[in-house]
Amino acid sequence: MQKKLTIIAVVCGFLVGTWAMAVAGDVALPKADGKAVYDYITKTSPYQQWALYPGKGKLYKGQHPHGALLTTYVSEKAEMALNARAGQFPDGSLIVKENYMPDKLLGAVTVMYRVNGYNPDAGDWFWAKYKADGAIEAEGKVAGCIGCHTAAIGNDWVFTGPIK
Ligand code: HEC
Repeated sequence: MQKKLTIIAVVCGFLVGTWAMAVAGDVALPKADGKAVYDYITKTSPYQQWALYPGKGKLYKGQHPHGALLTTYVSEKAEMALNARAGQFPDGSLIVKENYMPDKLLGAVTVMYRVNGYNPDAGDWFWAKYKADGAIEAEGKVAGCIGCHTAAIGNDWVFTGPIK
């Protein structure tokens, strides 16, 4: 009896420990909120220190409606998934795209943030668009972003390079 209880206690301790570590690992990630995400990508984990989207350099040519020139950064989780061709971006992945005018002036910053359970109808992406000074232009389940990115649904809603 004593032994059984010990085993149960050890197993429970292990489960709680694993759970606590999992939660702690994600503690730094922002909630699905425009201001929280902007603080995260500019202060907590400045995106300009992340990797560039695999296969893309800085200031590559973009299409409408994004800028004439684009520079796209991926968080570590997103980078690992892309390099592994994981098929899907994991929970917490962030993609940050700088949208420049033809004269290389920063026009806007657009973000896709995977938050599991946030919007199952549209790939669980949180969308945000910021002006160059950080002011929020759009955020959340933005119909315009979703409508166009649906064309890339087979690539986990992303155009720039393959995840599969
Ligand atoms: C009319 C279509 C269209 C709309 C609307 C649109 N996008 Fe995009 N988006 C694209 C295309 C095409 C690309 C690939 C980059 C390029 O060549 O311009 C892209 C790329 C991106 C990327 C880089 C990752 C990827 O998918 O390749 C992010 C981040 C992004 N868009 C965010 C947004 C956000 C946020 C909105 C809404 C505020 C939005 N987009 C609206 C077409 C669209």
